[in-house]
This record gives sequence, C-alpha cells and structure tokens, in this order.
Amino acid sequence: MTTTPSRTDLLVGLAHRSHAVIREHQHHTGAYPASPAFSAYRGYAWLRDGGFIAEGMSRYGDVASANDFHDWVDRTLGARRSQLDEVLALRTAGAPVPPSLLLPTRFRFDGADGDDEWWDFQTDGYGTWVWAVVEHARRHALDVSRWRAGIEVAVDFATAFWDQPCYDWWEEHDEQRHVSTLGSVVGGLEAAQGCGAITGERAEAARVAVAGARELALAEGVADGHLTKWLGSAEVDGSLSACVVPFGLVEPSSALARETLAAVARDLDVDGGVHRFRADVFYGGGQWLLLSALLGWNLVRQGDVDGARHLLEWVADHATDTGEMPEQVDDHLLHPGSRAEWVERWGSVATPLLWSHGMFLVLADELGLLEETSA
Ligand code: BGC
Repeated sequence: MTTTPSRTDLLVGLAHRSHAVIREHQHHTGAYPASPAFSAYRGYAWLRDGGFIAEGMSRYGDVASANDFHDWVDRTLGARRSQLDEVLALRTAGAPVPPSLLLPTRFRFDGADGDDEWWDFQTDGYGTWVWAVVEHARRHALDVSRWRAGIEVAVDFATAFWDQPCYDWWEEHDEQRHVSTLGSVVGGLEAAQGCGAITGERAEAARVAVAGARELALAEGVADGHLTKWLGSAEVDGSLSACVVPFGLVEPSSALARETLAAVARDLDVDGGVHRFRADVFYGGGQWLLLSALLGWNLVRQGDVDGARHLLEWVADHATDTGEMPEQVDDHLLHPGSRAEWVERWGSVATPLLWSHGMFLVLADELGLLEETSA
C-alpha cells in the first residue's frame, strides 16, 4: 500500500533538502556562497546572507557546517585587524576615510576583496554575523572565545560607523540611514555584550552605540506607529521584521513591534509572498522567499502559528521541482516593466539562493518541524 506524504512530511523533506543544498555548496574554506551560479554573486560570500544561513544550519543541528562558516569569518575578519585599526585611527583624528579602506560587504572565499565594483559599505552584515555566532555558541554550548578575533573586528567596525549613512540590506540608497541596518547593528552589539565576548572599553563603546542607535531609530525612524524604511521616511521595508525578531531593536511585545509587523504584512505580503518595498524594481519587484520566512518567524513569536505556517507553505510552494529556492518569484510583480532589463543584465533570478534555504530552516525550526532532525 502506498500512502501520500502529508503536507508536513513534504515540508520536513524540504528542510532536509535545504540543508543538503547549503552543504553541497559550502566552500571548503567554510564560506557560504550567496548563490553558486548566479552571474553577479558567483564567487562571493556575504556576512548578511551567511549569518542567517549559519543560523539555519545551527538550528538544523549541523554544528560542523556552522562552525566552519564562523571559523572562516573569524579568520577573514581577524586578517583585517590592521586595516581596521588604520581606519579607526583616521576616524579618531577626524580625517576622511578613503572608501576603499572601509571593510567590504562581501568577500571572495579566500577572504580577499573582489575585483568587481560593488555597493560596498554596509554595516548590517557585521551586526548580523556577531548575532549569529553568539546564537550558535549559546545553542550548542560552545566557547564563543573561539571567534573572539573576528567578533572584535566586527564590533569595532559597527561601533565606529553605526551612525553613518550606508547601503541597506538591498545594497541601495547609501545616502540614507536605514532602520533595519540600525536594528542589525543593535542585535549584534547586544549579543556580543550579553555573552561576555567583549569586555572593558570595547563593551562600553558598544553599549553607547546601542543606546544611540536605538534612540535615533525611535526618534526618527517611526511614522504612523511603525518603524520606517529609513530615518525620515514613512515607507516600510520587508527587512524591518528583523528589528523585532531576531534583533530586538524594539521589544517584541510592544505596540511598535506589532504595528511594524502589521504594516509589513499590509503593504508587502501578497498571498504569503513578501516584497522588499513598494518601489522595488529589481527583477520587476517580485516576492522574496527569505522575507516570507522572516515575517513567519516573527508571527510565531507573536503567537500566530497558523499565519506562520501559511508563510512557510508559500515558500515551500515556490521551490523548484528539484527543491531549490530562488531569491524571488514573479507571481506578483510590483513593476513588471522592469523585469526584462535585469534578466538581460544578470540572467534569470539567483537560484538556489542559500539565504532562502537558510531562512526556510529557521522558520521550519520555529514551527517545530526540525525536532527529530540531527545532521
Ligand atoms: C541582495 C542582498 C544580498 C545579495 C546576495 C543582493 O541582490 O540585495 O541583500 O545580500 O544579493 O544574496
């Protein structure tokens, strides 16, 4: 007798597949490539993507994979110590810092800068990585001091530059100060302080930065009762959910958190697929799997398990026949006329995007679907 697998079995199967996809593409150095075959991302690893991918692998129980990634970041950032010290000395002296000296957003797998032009100078990934490595160490009772050199570099960079305009999660608008970037920095710096990975003057400077970032976000990054895309804007962005969970820029039980999640859902969630922001023209402005999972993660924490499950199912329904997850899908495009130019420029949408798989693992775990799993 054959039985049809249940919806839950299919979701669990896709979690195993997500783990396998990430494992298959993890570079031998430990780096997680953003998307192995996509023209514009090939050969590069991002701290932002990687932090969330590592969180998914850590939750799945693949301690070795997450360790390898965190070791890679630790080596990569540790090797930037003298570069960062030079930057910090210029900053302390009030001298201009040449952009080429600032730490990059993405790295080659050997830890080097790339040769291609990129939208460098983004502080969020440094916060995200610190948050992820601290979570991983706590979850698996590991000694976080193993990653201290990298954590110190990331913390010093974020502490020195959190208040500067920079590119956002989507590598856009470097003239603005983005609330999700502030949230990512706060999440990382608070995690580092909370676990004792940083001490003394470094911890004190991080504490001051956290207080400043939170105060600024609450003073200038709120409109109509919700957090906004950047300071002074009234718009929302799908990444704002992260300011609630996991980064805790705002207290998850607060009205501001609830209103932010409600505004993201109202403005950007179409049938379970979450857009980045209303003006998004990248590949026509489709729905991003990782943002559906991020909203779902928040809904679980708000007690809306059915809503979260709906989002997980939407993500699952948009995997390819071979179980690979794209960056975005085109069921509902905000600016359909802008799609072709991107396909022409960079080819079809990045697939698999390892960050999509990592976020699927996170939400599957939040919903209790990984309980029996151990890599
Ligand atoms: C996204 C970034 C992401 C990068 C690599 C870009 O298109 O905007 O958020 O880090 O791709 O996945």
